[in-house]
Amino acid sequence: MCAASSEQRFVHDAVLLQETVAAVLGVKSLPKCTDDAPQPSLQMSGIYVDATFGRGGHSRLLLSHLSDDATLVVFDKDPTAIAVAQELAASDSRVKVVHDSFATLTDSLAALGIDQVDGLMADLGISSPQIDDGSRGFSFMRDGAVDMRMDTSRGQSVAEWLEQVDDETLANVLYEFGEERHSRRIARAIKQMDSYESTLELAEVIKTAHPNWQRGKHPATQSFQAMRIFINNELGDVDDFLAQSIPILKAGGQLAVISFHSLEDRRIKQFLQRHSKGQYPEDDNLPMPPKRPRYFGKPKRVGPSKSEISGNPRARSAWLRLATRSDVEYQQAASQD
Ligand SMILES: C[S@@+](CC[C@H](N)C(=O)[O-])C[C@H]1O[C@@H](n2cnc3c(N)ncnc32)[C@H](O)[C@@H]1O
Repeated sequence: MCAASSEQRFVHDAVLLQETVAAVLGVKSLPKCTDDAPQPSLQMSGIYVDATFGRGGHSRLLLSHLSDDATLVVFDKDPTAIAVAQELAASDSRVKVVHDSFATLTDSLAALGIDQVDGLMADLGISSPQIDDGSRGFSFMRDGAVDMRMDTSRGQSVAEWLEQVDDETLANVLYEFGEERHSRRIARAIKQMDSYESTLELAEVIKTAHPNWQRGKHPATQSFQAMRIFINNELGDVDDFLAQSIPILKAGGQLAVISFHSLEDRRIKQFLQRHSKGQYPEDDNLPMPPKRPRYFGKPKRVGPSKSEISGNPRARSAWLRLATRSDVEYQQAASQD
């Protein structure tokens, strides 16, 4: 019998798990377990980063394919995720833990004496434990404080922000980060609330204000997504992370990023297009467009299989984008996008 792999015992919801770990290791697929080799390992050396540790599903599978002299640096903003990562690091000296945003990639790695890595992976957004814990404020189905911070040790909660934001700014956030077409009407209703103490109350106000309910979708879905993305600066962090991936990855190093909504996926796609094809939209109107560096080989996109979606409905909106760093040397000027 093949032994249960560690990721199956610890995490049930890691999305595109095999595909992402294979990509970050630069192999087509991971070896399958057999009765003769119940826990096959590629024994790869090198330095790798899991930018979004969560509960460590991807990290644990990656570690099982790394040699004893390899290093895995894991990031997370969330103190609860970091506590789990520290437990793992206590029993595995290959693991180094950073409690910070992956937007600090270069500086945080430099503090560990690392200037380049062999592989970078990120599984964006929030984890199931964050959604399931009503007290974190991410869910419109469970009551809790209107918080929504990934890093509860710093920064402003959504409730604090709602107290002082004006209607127009709130409407713009709902529109920009939630693609909510009824943003103005919803913003007005939210600003008429006396206090922001309960996620269920907030969800109810949004529901009442929303004129166009869709079957099978809570009317607060997009507004909650927007406030969460805004308060955690999710898109800004992704842009910073991607820009830093160019100098941080060694030639031949792998980038693998999973996203769950189009706002993120579009950014990753455009970043990889820009830096693999050398296509810069700002060059479009130039009579003689400059020759741009191609920092990545041809990117690929991988989606979940039907069987993964049926076992884990959260996987249905996931896309994995991956690319290999070329040997084109990084030039400072080109990274300022
Ligand atoms: C989808 S979960 C990752 C799940 C993980 N791959 C696993 O298998 O358990 C995303 C995690 O990334 C963290 N996160 C999101 N944005 C972050 C950022 N900018 N910097 C660091 N961590 C971040 C969240 O706190 C959350 O724990």
